[in-house]
Amino acid sequence: MKRLGGKSALITGAARGIGRGFAERYLAEGATVAIADINLDAATQTASDLGNGAYPVHIDVSDQASIDAAVTTVVAHAGALDILINNAALFDAAETVDITRDSYDRLYAVNVAGTLFTLQAAAKQMILQGNGGKIINMASQAGRRGEPLVLVYCSTKAAVISITQSAGLNLIKHGINVNAIAPGVVDGDHWDHVDSMFAKLEGKTPGQKKAEVAASVPAGRFAVPDDLTGMAVFLASPDSDYIVSQTYNVDGGQWMS
Ligand SMILES: NC(=O)c1ccc[n+]([C@@H]2O[C@H](COP(=O)([O-])OP(=O)(O)OC[C@H]3O[C@@H](n4cnc5c(N)ncnc54)[C@H](O)[C@@H]3O)[C@@H](O)[C@H]2O)c1
Repeated sequence: MKRLGGKSALITGAARGIGRGFAERYLAEGATVAIADINLDAATQTASDLGNGAYPVHIDVSDQASIDAAVTTVVAHAGALDILINNAALFDAAETVDITRDSYDRLYAVNVAGTLFTLQAAAKQMILQGNGGKIINMASQAGRRGEPLVLVYCSTKAAVISITQSAGLNLIKHGINVNAIAPGVVDGDHWDHVDSMFAKLEGKTPGQKKAEVAASVPAGRFAVPDDLTGMAVFLASPDSDYIVSQTYNVDGGQWMS
């Protein structure tokens, strides 16, 4: 039986990577999925690749008008908004003394304000509909503890865990479950970018950081997006109705909490 049959989902940052993996699995589970991304061309290509039930939507989660327009588009297209995955995020790395205001502002605008205000817009729509809803925020193991070169990103993901807790406690009275997933390391464009940044910052050869990190994962390898999709389906399904404000580690054993 399909677990998300008839549901309308909005996934931000779904043009590629983990978001695309979530979209593919949600479609297989019977949902209609808005492939929402700041890169509309890539979102359009992804929606076309994924086929029936997927449609592209432009969203810049750092812009309130764009968030509101995306929610309006989803409701016009699918008739409702039942599931949000707050997945879009930016990464940066630097020595603490080299962190710039620009980097801080960009990451907080997308990872923190983007998560909060997309959650808010979705919650308003779900309250209007009166049938509850499911909101899943993408945290990270980076939100569980600091890293010497990743202060800004780690702190944004700690904020996502905190936003999940408070919003979940506040919105459950409307039947809206807010929970989060904290992945460890997931292979894809994002980690290729991380690897190239660490190559510069730590004087490593390309691919070296990835190999070192993979060897440190208890499960013995990087995740692929499909390692996370089961949790994303569970948190969007009625099986999670009594789960409130939690952040689940899906990280091959990297972190225990
Ligand atoms: N890849 C990992 O190892 C890893 C680990 C832990 C957590 N995460 C989290 O999982 C999520 C997805 O990661 P990923 O690896 O697929 O990332 P990614 O960089 O591959 O994809 C991010 C997507 O977000 C889009 N995006 C960027 N800024 C946007 C904006 N302002 N508005 C809308 N869309 C925007 C990009 O165009 C891109 O399609 C992120 O929240 C990330 O922090 C990833």
